[in-house]
Amino acid sequence: MARSLLHSIAIACSAASLALAISPGFPYGSEKVRGVNLGGWLVLEPWITPSLFDNTGNDAIVDEYTFCQYQDTSVAQSTLEAHWASWITESDFEAIAAAGLNHVRLPIGYWAFEVGPGEPYISGQLPYLQKAVTWAGNHGLKVIVDLHGAPGSQNGFDNSGQRMDYPTWHSNSTNVARTDAILKTIADMFKDNPTVVPIIAPLNEPAGFDGSDVLSVIKQYWRDSYGNIRYPYGSSQQSNTLVLIHDAFQPLSYWDGFLTPSDNGAQGVAMDTHIYQMFTDAGNAMSDDDHIQSACAQKSSLAGFDLWLIVGEWTPAMTDCAKYLNGRGIGSRYDGTYPGSTAVGSCTGLTGSASTFSSSFKTFLRKMWEAQAIAFESAGAGWVQWTWKAENADEWTYQAGLQYGWIPQNPEGYEYPGICD
Ligand SMILES: *[C@@H]1O[C@H](CO)[C@@H](O)[C@H](O)[C@H]1NC(C)=O
Repeated sequence: MARSLLHSIAIACSAASLALAISPGFPYGSEKVRGVNLGGWLVLEPWITPSLFDNTGNDAIVDEYTFCQYQDTSVAQSTLEAHWASWITESDFEAIAAAGLNHVRLPIGYWAFEVGPGEPYISGQLPYLQKAVTWAGNHGLKVIVDLHGAPGSQNGFDNSGQRMDYPTWHSNSTNVARTDAILKTIADMFKDNPTVVPIIAPLNEPAGFDGSDVLSVIKQYWRDSYGNIRYPYGSSQQSNTLVLIHDAFQPLSYWDGFLTPSDNGAQGVAMDTHIYQMFTDAGNAMSDDDHIQSACAQKSSLAGFDLWLIVGEWTPAMTDCAKYLNGRGIGSRYDGTYPGSTAVGSCTGLTGSASTFSSSFKTFLRKMWEAQAIAFESAGAGWVQWTWKAENADEWTYQAGLQYGWIPQNPEGYEYPGICD
């Protein structure tokens, strides 16, 4: 008994002193992360900017890969450059800071760094990544640099750059080696600026749901990324940059102990989980009260995890009604236009411009926003909403939420503080 108590004290002490050995650019764990994603900027997403896709007049253009492949390169390039220069500017960083947020998460694709032979991708995003970091610094915001697309696609989603039925990143060691090299580049770019870039996410949403082949590659990739991000100066000197790994759609218990201090002394690692309720038929069919209860239930289901836990994507939207949300040319489960789905109701008034939203829908969005912010702050290290702006899906955007009042001007300004009690 006494011996095991001493033993646990010794472990606790070494964990505590390890935790002190680095000084992150943000007090993760004591101050809550409150942030927003800059989706659809440096990685195109058809549902965030449907006009860019519709303007091509080509239905085969469904992601950034085909955007560059199936139209004249100079047209694709000039469209992308105009988009990068206008979709997000310094005034967005100013507005994000004014809304009381402290982080932005910035998705970027591997093709910003390196395009392989035969790949149609157009690069030119890096100057905007650099500008974003400067603008964030100007307004006191922290940037999570998030590698959102890897060679071969890590999940087959259009937001990885390339939509496909079965992703091919994990099954090809050349793809993984290229991604490792890009992570080294990213870590090197920001290793001396942890105040503005305190944390790097080595890969968004790898397809752990495809099974153990993917999971074993991912676990090794997270370990290699740990080395690349935490030791960018070589093996003797650590950086102050945190590594934000994603749960690969596994239950948190799957990751118990992984890259914690008890795992070879690892430190400076945080876990990213994404929480959406609208990508199943059952989720779309839930009542408003069930959606709120499901959000509140995260208060206990996310609690007690052994790494800093950040909910890096979530939204007050509870239907898949937004045009192209499931992919360009694919319909919605909610209104039954998605293959195999059963209609719950009409999407009219539930997506698009908030000027068409009823006051009861806006009240529901407010409750959903608050229930999730409360649950995620109670259980974990904070949250980053998806996403700051979209052309025509206001139910998803922080910007419209602020404008139309379902997101508080100050993220602590709850109207329903007891919603999860
Ligand atoms: C593996 O991926 C690389 C690109 O990263 C590609 O050139 C190569 O053809 C792929 N190998 C196979 C067997 O598909």
